[in-house]
Amino acid sequence: MKPIESLVRDNVKNLKPCVHGAEILGAAEQSGLLPQEILDFSSSVNPLGPSKKALDAAKRAFNQIAAYPDSNSNELRQVIASHYGISKGNVVVGNGSTELMYLFAEVFLKKGEKAVMPAPTFGEYESAVCKTGETPKFVKLGKDFSIDRDAFKLEMACAKIIFLCNPNSPTSMLTPKETLTNIIETALEQNTLVFLDEDFLEFVEDEKALTMIRKIGKYPNLFILRSFTKIFGLTGLRVGYGIASEEIINLLSCAKIPWNVNCLAQAAAVAALKDEAHLRVTRDLIKKEKAWLQGELGKFGSFKFSAPDANFFFIDIRKSGLTATKLKNNLLSQGILIRDCTSFRGLDEFYVRIAVKTHVENARLIEALKRTVKAI
Ligand SMILES: Cc1ncc(COP(=O)(O)O)c(C=O)c1O
Repeated sequence: MKPIESLVRDNVKNLKPCVHGAEILGAAEQSGLLPQEILDFSSSVNPLGPSKKALDAAKRAFNQIAAYPDSNSNELRQVIASHYGISKGNVVVGNGSTELMYLFAEVFLKKGEKAVMPAPTFGEYESAVCKTGETPKFVKLGKDFSIDRDAFKLEMACAKIIFLCNPNSPTSMLTPKETLTNIIETALEQNTLVFLDEDFLEFVEDEKALTMIRKIGKYPNLFILRSFTKIFGLTGLRVGYGIASEEIINLLSCAKIPWNVNCLAQAAAVAALKDEAHLRVTRDLIKKEKAWLQGELGKFGSFKFSAPDANFFFIDIRKSGLTATKLKNNLLSQGILIRDCTSFRGLDEFYVRIAVKTHVENARLIEALKRTVKAI
C-alpha cells in the first residue's frame, strides 16, 4: 500500500480547519471548569435560545426520525419564500449556512479562477475556496475596518466570485447600501458572482431596508446567505439558506448532497420563522443590552471600539497592556469565554469579539473585566 498521503487530491492536501469561537469543551479542559460553568461570549447567537415553538416542533418531528427527511426541504423553502414574497425556486436550504459557502465555491469556481474577499472576515469563505484548489485574494479593510470601495473594485477585476459579509464578522460593521450596490453592479458588468452573507443582518434595526434579498431579480449575479443559527438560536440543529435567481438555485440544488437537512431541523426552522414574538423579544433585549454594555465597556478607557451594528462588540484592547490571548485566558479562569480574534486574517494579537447576552450575564462579564484590568 502506498502512503495514504500520496493518494490525496492536491487541493485538499494542505487544508487546515478554520478556527471558531464556542470551543466550550477545549475551554473547559483548559480551565478545569465544567462546560456548563462557562459563560460563552465567544459565539454571537440568541442569548434567549430558540423559540419554544421551534423546540416543540422539533419534538413533534421525533416521530419522523425513522424516515429520510425531505431532501429538498420543500415546506421550509416555501415558508422562507412566503416570508420574503419570493418563490420557492429562489431558495436553497443547507446544513447550516456554512454548507452553502462550500457548495457555492464548488459549483462556480473553475480551475485558475479568482475569488476575492475582505480581510478580516468570516474564515470559512477562505476554506471553501481553498477546498476547490484555488487561493483567495484578500483586500485589507481600511483603518476603521470599512471596505475601501475603490481598492476592492480594483482587486475584484476579473474575479469569478466575491465574498462579502454584511454586517461583517468579526468587526460588527455594516457596509453602506450605496457601497454594496456599487460593488454588486460593477460585479454584474464584469460577470462576477457576489456571495453576500447576511447571517447577522436580522440583529440590525433597519434589516428590511438594508437587505439585498429584494434585489435578486435586478441582480442575477447575487446570492444572499441567511442562517437559523444566529437570531433564531437553532445553532446545534444546523440549518441555513440561500436566496438567488432560480438559475443559481437550480444549479446549487442539483449539486448539493441529498437529505442535507435533517427532519428535526426542517420542522424547527419552519416554526422559528413564524414565531415573530420571540424575535421581537430578542431584538428588544439585544438593543437594551447593547446600549448598556457600550456604556460599561466605554468606562474602561483602554478598550477601543465603535458602536456595533450586529449583536457583538469588536474591541481593540492594545491600550490595556494585554494581548487578546491573555485577556481570554484571564477571563476563562473566571468562567467566561470570549473570542480571541488573533486567528482572523488581517488582524494582529490585540482584538477580541464579545457577544451581547442577557443582563445578568453581561453584568458578570463586566465584573470579570474589572477584576482583570485592576490586576494588571
Ligand atoms: C458571518 C458568519 N456567517 C456564517 C456563519 C456560519 O453559520 P452557520 O451556523 O449557519 O453555518 C457564521 C458562524 O459563525 C458567521 O459568523
